Amino acid sequence: MGNGVTHHVIIDCDPGTDDAVALWLALASPELSVEAITVAGGNVGLEQTLGNARAVVSLTGARVPVHAGAARPLLGRFTSAARVHGQDGLNGVSLPAGGPPAPGLAADAIRARLRTATIPLTLIGIGPATNIALALATEPTLAARIAEIVLMSGAWGEGNATPAAEFNAWSDPEALAIVLACGRPITLVTLELTAQALVTPSRIAALRRCGRNACLRAACDILAAAPSPARMHGAPLHDPCAIAWLLRPDLFSGRDCAVRIETSDGEGRGRTHIDRWQLTGQPANAHVLERLDADGFFDLLGRRLAALP
Ligand code: RIB
Ligand code: CA
Repeated sequence: MGNGVTHHVIIDCDPGTDDAVALWLALASPELSVEAITVAGGNVGLEQTLGNARAVVSLTGARVPVHAGAARPLLGRFTSAARVHGQDGLNGVSLPAGGPPAPGLAADAIRARLRTATIPLTLIGIGPATNIALALATEPTLAARIAEIVLMSGAWGEGNATPAAEFNAWSDPEALAIVLACGRPITLVTLELTAQALVTPSRIAALRRCGRNACLRAACDILAAAPSPARMHGAPLHDPCAIAWLLRPDLFSGRDCAVRIETSDGEGRGRTHIDRWQLTGQPANAHVLERLDADGFFDLLGRRLAALP
C-alpha cells in the first residue's frame, strides 16, 4: 500500500443505475486502487452494461480497463431487470460514449490480475457472480491471492427478483455457490442492508448541493429517475453500499453467518439461506452486514462524488 491506498480492487458489475453510482464512488476514492472493471449481463444485456460501464469510467477520466464478460448465467437463461433500470440500464440518462473495452474477457482478466498480484486483491461483485465464478472455477489456486470478496447479493428474507430471491443471486445461483465455497473472506451486502440506504427526494437534493460537476449531476439524474419499490419510501441504493464498506467499515455492523444458496429449479431458486442464529451448525462462510449509518453513507457519497470531474 502507499499513497493512502488501502485496497487494490477489481469491480465486477452490471450497470445498472446503482452500479454506475458505485463505480463513481470507487473511482472517486483514493483509498481504492481500481485495477480493472469487469462486466456481465444482468440489469440489462451485456452490450448495454458494457457500454454503460465504459461511459461511466470515461466520464471520470480514469484510465481503468473495462473488460466484457459473461452475457448469460452459467446455467439457466438470462433475465434482465430493465423494469427497474430502463431499457438502456441508466433510466434514460445518456452519457457520452466511453472508450473501447480492454482486450481479454472478464474471467481471464480477473485471473491474470490475480496471478500477477503482488498485493492480495479485493474482488467486489455487484452483479450476477458469473465472471468471478468462472475465474475461480478455472484456476482455483488463485483464490489464495484474494484478500476479500465483497458481494451485493442475497437477502435474509424476501427477495426483489422473486419473493424468495434477490436479483444478483437469482440471476446465477450456481455462480454464487462457487464463490461462497471458495474459502476466502466474503462480506455480504444483502437487501436488508441496502433497504437502509433509501434514496429520497430530499437526499437527492442534498447530493445536488454537494457540487455541479458532471459525474455528480449524472448520478443525481440517474437516482432521480429510479422507481421506488411499492413497499418502500424511497429507492434502495444497493451497489454503492459494497464500495462504502471498504471505505468506511465504521458505518456498518454485521455478523458471521453460514450462507447457502438454493440452486434448485423450484420457486426457491436463488434464495440465500442465511443462518443468522447458528441453527444449522454449519460453519460461517460470510460476514453478513446488518446495520448501516445511512446519513453517514449519503454524506460520504456526496463528498466523494463532488470530487469527480
Ligand atoms: O438486487 C439488487 C442488485 O441487482 C443490484 O446489484 C442491482 O444493480 C442489480 O444488479
Ligand atoms: Ca448491480
